[in-house]
Order: sequence, then C-alpha cells, then structure tokens
Amino acid sequence: MQRVEKEIQRLIKEIDYDEVTKLFSMLSGGKRLRAKLILKIAPNHEKAPLLAAIVELIHGASLLHDDVIDESHTRRGVVSVNATEGSKTAVMLGDILYSKAFTELLEFDRAIAKRVASSVTALSMGEIQDVKMAEAFNSDEEKYLNMLYLKTATLIEAAASAAAILCGKDGDTYAIYGRSLGLSFQIIDDILDITSDASTLGKPAMNDFVEGKCTLPYIYLYEALNEDDKKRLQNAHAKKIDESEALWIKNTMQENKSIERSFALAQALSRDAMQAVKDDKELVLILETMIKRSY
Ligand code: IPE
Ligand code: IPE
Ligand code: MG
Ligand code: MG
Ligand code: MG
Repeated sequence: MQRVEKEIQRLIKEIDYDEVTKLFSMLSGGKRLRAKLILKIAPNHEKAPLLAAIVELIHGASLLHDDVIDESHTRRGVVSVNATEGSKTAVMLGDILYSKAFTELLEFDRAIAKRVASSVTALSMGEIQDVKMAEAFNSDEEKYLNMLYLKTATLIEAAASAAAILCGKDGDTYAIYGRSLGLSFQIIDDILDITSDASTLGKPAMNDFVEGKCTLPYIYLYEALNEDDKKRLQNAHAKKIDESEALWIKNTMQENKSIERSFALAQALSRDAMQAVKDDKELVLILETMIKRSY
C-alpha cells in the first residue's frame, strides 16, 4: 500500500499545479478498498500499484462529485471540498483527477484501459439514476439494485477484473467477485447510514432518506407496512426528519426486520463473491472485513 500512496502522490505532483496539490491534500485517503483489492489480485505485478493509484484517483473524483450532488458537507471525517471551496472547485478537481487517471491508463493494455474507463461511464449513469430515483418514492427493489450496480459495483468490478487481466488470471471470474462484492459493499453503506452515526462514518448519517434515497432497508420496510404506515413513510420521504420520525423509522425497521433482510442480501452477495474466488484466502478475508465494517 505504501507504493500505492507513493504512486498517488507522484501522479498528483505530475499535474504540476499547486492549487491541485493543496486541494488534494485536503482529502484524506479513505479505506482504500479498491486499491487493496488490486494488490491482492495482482500482488507481484510491477504495475499493480499504478493501477491501484489510478482506481483510487477515479474513486476520489467520484466522491468529489458525489458530495456536490448530495450536498454533503463531510467526507472521510473532514469537511468536504464542496463545503470549504465551493461546488465549482470540487467539480473541476474531480475532472482533473478523472482525466489524469485516464491519461495514466495509457500505460496499460487496451483491455484493461477499456474496462476501467468504461466503468466511469457506468458509475456516472448510476449517479444520474440515483438522483432521478430520489425525485419520487421508490419501492422497486430491482430498479434500486440495478442503480447500485452502476454507481458502485462497476468500478470495483473493473478494478478486480483489470488486476486479474494484468497478471494473466481470468478477468471474468474476478469480475463476478468484484461485482458481487461491490453490490454487497453499497448495501452495507446504505445500512450504516441508518444504524451508525456521523462521527463513526466520517460523513452524514440518517441522510439518504432525507435526500430522497429509498435504500434497501426503506424498500423492505415499505413492503412490510400497512396502508396507513405506508402513507406515513411516503410523507417523510425527501424531507428533513425530526427526532421522533427518525425514531419511528428505526423502530419500525427493527420490528419488521428490514435491516436484517438487507444485511442477509449483502451476505448472500458476499457468498457469491466468495464462491468465485474460494481458493484465495486473502480475497475471502477482504469480503469478511467489508461485511463486518462499521464505516
Ligand atoms: C464510498 O466509498 C462511496 C460508496 C461507494 C459507498 P468508500 O466507503 O470506499 O469510501 P472511502 O474511500 O473509504 O472514503
Ligand atoms: C456512492 O453513493 C457514491 C459513488 C459511488 C460515487 P453514496 O452517495 O451513497 O456515497 P456516500 O454515502 O456519500 O459515500
Ligand atoms: Mg453521497
Ligand atoms: Mg450519492
Ligand atoms: Mg451512502
């Protein structure tokens, strides 16, 4: 991982613009899940740290844009770039990171470059869908999962399969691993929004529904409610919620096991991922840590 951090710093330095260096230093590193995945899949390849750095730049860019879209003021435990520097700066810094990442993909074979670059198209389509779906109450699980696949799983799928191709392993097997892990990962993120607090998460909590996002626990809750409570939930959608309504949501979720049901799906997806790479203990370990995480 030290080599990845060094590569990231090198790429930022190469941009050769003090403003970017300064802004980038404001972002803390995050969990580096995608980078760790790449290093575990292609541990001995000399270009693995560069691939990991590229994917982390892409991920960082997507978060810069995501915080503008979601109007989030905290990221990775610190104030977000859009909050301190404004949305315009956050968008452009994101563009710089994306384009630097794409330039660096020229160091790799076409198959690798194509997978990684096209996952950004998918991710961005997913973010559009996320925004559009937040305009109205959504109770369609399949539609929700399709959106999750695009916005979160595609980059992880691309990272895993690109790393596999890099070291001569089967890209498609690792794509299945990355896809299932990615879906599972975002479901856990959505659960944590409800069950955790802002200081643990390093970003706002209980915020998805306020933003209009009917994540899986809300979809399952809705399915379990009677007509009156369905209306009550729909009324709370996309509004600032007070303490008592937040408590009602959490309590009814508990009664109806909406979180457990969501967690069960995350676990099932995790098992699918495990199945794809069952002989690789390190990759199984990543899954186990991911599912048990608290932020
Ligand atoms: C956050 O990703 C966005 C989601 C896909 C849920 P991470 O949780 O991997 O963010 P960092 O990189 O650790 O901050
Ligand atoms: C994931 O969506 C963001 C990306 C995949 C870019 P979220 O909006 O849920 O991410 P967080 O919760 O802000 O990290
Ligand atoms: Mg967000
Ligand atoms: Mg978002
Ligand atoms: Mg989230």
